[in-house]
Amino acid sequence: MTAKDMMFRVLVRVMAFLKKDVSDTRQKMIYAATMRKTADEMDKDQLGQLIRYFSHALDKAVRCENTSAGRGMEKKRILSSALDEWQRRGYAEGPDKLWARETLEQYDRWNAGAGKLTQPVPDDVDYPVIGSTDIFNIIEGRKSVRFWKKKPVERDKIEKMVRAATFAPSSCNRMTWRFFIVESGMDKVVEGDSTNKSMLEKAPVRIYLAIDERMYPEIYAPALDAGFALQNLVLAAHALGLGACLMYHSESVNQAKLKSELNIPAHYMIYCAVMLGYPAEAPSTTARVAVNEVITYVDKPNGSAGVDCFAD
Ligand SMILES: Cc1cc2nc3c(=O)[nH]c(=O)nc-3n(C[C@H](O)[C@H](O)[C@H](O)COP(=O)(O)O)c2cc1C
Repeated sequence: MTAKDMMFRVLVRVMAFLKKDVSDTRQKMIYAATMRKTADEMDKDQLGQLIRYFSHALDKAVRCENTSAGRGMEKKRILSSALDEWQRRGYAEGPDKLWARETLEQYDRWNAGAGKLTQPVPDDVDYPVIGSTDIFNIIEGRKSVRFWKKKPVERDKIEKMVRAATFAPSSCNRMTWRFFIVESGMDKVVEGDSTNKSMLEKAPVRIYLAIDERMYPEIYAPALDAGFALQNLVLAAHALGLGACLMYHSESVNQAKLKSELNIPAHYMIYCAVMLGYPAEAPSTTARVAVNEVITYVDKPNGSAGVDCFAD
């Protein structure tokens, strides 16, 4: 390699690092500014997101043993004031807001000492019950599962799921994903709770989705490629009677350490892990936002809008 090649490589690496770091910092600043607002200062979209974000947090909390009094209380307070604000503005309460109110009630019961609020699935009962393999039924029936039976997952099922993942679209057909699979000993499947730590300890199977990022000129295509593959994977898991929960990794974990523990080459980025097994709980029914809250029909644009928006 010539000195010029070497210089070029170093420059490319520095640029790639800076680009990531800058977009990372920018995102964190936007988030901090959003979370500094009180409910009455938020726009409708932010308010809806906050309601779903914090009802999810409480929903996960009530699936743990209540060991420290007051845990989650601040989130409960913020969620209550966000729901009050939603109502005060006279917005329609779709299924997600009704579910948020249910999680508040659950949280009060849990906080009053009701114990961990899970609905166990007995060992001899197969769950989930797949009514039909119609794609809409599979999509709407999938839910995150965070408790598993002491039952190994067959390799042919693992491979079926990975095969489904490989049928996802990928940017420029690059198919840069790699699935690193850890099969745990069944002795680890204790009941545990719904925290990430507990799931990592007990999941019968963990699938780490990593992307070989060496062939991307785009910033976001690797994450999109990971996301599409993961979606196919969790839908296939559900169709096979398994229960999965995604676990965000990316910048949240020490990539170098985890890659070295799992023997994953350095040029991969681990985007996400999937915790997987036969469900031992009926998952919560996280209700969805009403379609009319997320859909906007855009007036027919003048001329060739969009075409000129690509960067140089
Ligand atoms: C990118 C991504 C990362 C996620 N990370 C976690 C996680 O770290 N821990 C967790 O318990 N659930 C995680 N989830 C699952 C979401 O909490 C879950 O999908 C959401 O609450 C909706 O519930 P449902 O999957 O049951 O419909 C993640 C989901 C996505 C898409």
